Amino acid sequence: MKLARKVTAMAMASMMVFSMAACGGGDSATETTAAPAGDTTTQAATEAAKETAKEAEAAGGAGGNIGVCIYKFDDAFMTTYRNALQEILEGKGYTVTVMDGKNDQAEQNNQINNFIAQEVDALIINPVMTSAADQIISTVKDADIPTVLINREPTPEQMSAYEKLVYVGCDARQSGTMQGELILDTPNKGDINGDGKVSYIMIQGDPENVDAQYRTEFSVKALTDAGMEVEELDLQRGDWDRNKGQEIAQNDLAKFGNDIEVIFCNNDDMAIGALQAIQAAGRKVNEDIYLVGVDALDAALNEVVNGNMTGTVLNDANGQAAGAVEAMEALLGGKTYASGEQSIYVDYVKVTPENAADFQ
Ligand code: BGC
Repeated sequence: MKLARKVTAMAMASMMVFSMAACGGGDSATETTAAPAGDTTTQAATEAAKETAKEAEAAGGAGGNIGVCIYKFDDAFMTTYRNALQEILEGKGYTVTVMDGKNDQAEQNNQINNFIAQEVDALIINPVMTSAADQIISTVKDADIPTVLINREPTPEQMSAYEKLVYVGCDARQSGTMQGELILDTPNKGDINGDGKVSYIMIQGDPENVDAQYRTEFSVKALTDAGMEVEELDLQRGDWDRNKGQEIAQNDLAKFGNDIEVIFCNNDDMAIGALQAIQAAGRKVNEDIYLVGVDALDAALNEVVNGNMTGTVLNDANGQAAGAVEAMEALLGGKTYASGEQSIYVDYVKVTPENAADFQ
């Protein structure tokens, strides 16, 4: 275990040097401080990385060089996810390099190309943009690298282009429905002022992401399916970001005041931001306003327990990380996936004050 970790650190150092050289010292390599450049260095670093992976194998670990691309490190949920991923992979003896896409698809494309040049054994990719899926899939297919996509789901048609590709994530419709159910479970089903309709604002994630689209649609659909009338006072993109969640909620609370009965947030980080605005406006969750998120971040679980959030939905980062590694190992073992069977889902779980402690 100790040896594997040491080897991993060595491999990371070598690979970062390569990444730096290959990108001409661009942003993508801020993870390292060394800055040599030039072909000779690049080649030497690549050889060193390959050599280190061989050493890891010889040292008795699972071996194998794994490249992980995360859309951006500065995302609360993806931080939990990538830490879980790294721990599982390293625990199994893989040599792992995790790159920060910095929310820039061009940057991530470079990182993928660098991993391919380093001849990694498998890739785990959290795309920056779902719309880049075709390009990513064709790149990994041309390089013949087994690939697991995570968190941003492409369509089945897109995935069917490559049989050594699988998506591990959650069905976001389920999380949206659960958010709606959390509101239906309140004593007045979200109609706090008793005017016969549920008036809400929707703080959306990045609308390019299917998680944001489905959560927005299915949270409200759960209410209307249950026969509730709804009124959308506002819908704005908060890009999964706490500060934007706070700003949107603050403006809407000033504009719509007590008319707002429910604040739906596509994730917890934005809900924590919205909670700051709710408290600053002198409103009280579960008394004169309801607030729901998704992810079950630690901060949100605390607020659910304290009664400052109506509820959240567990987006199981550990379960998805374990599923991604399992799928990667199946691919490495030679498994291929038929078209239409390339999505593996982990269930969401509804989180209320009654069960929140189970997830803390
Ligand atoms: C999570 C968000 C996260 C997003 C990143 C979603 O599944 O709920 O918190 O920001 O993924 O793509």
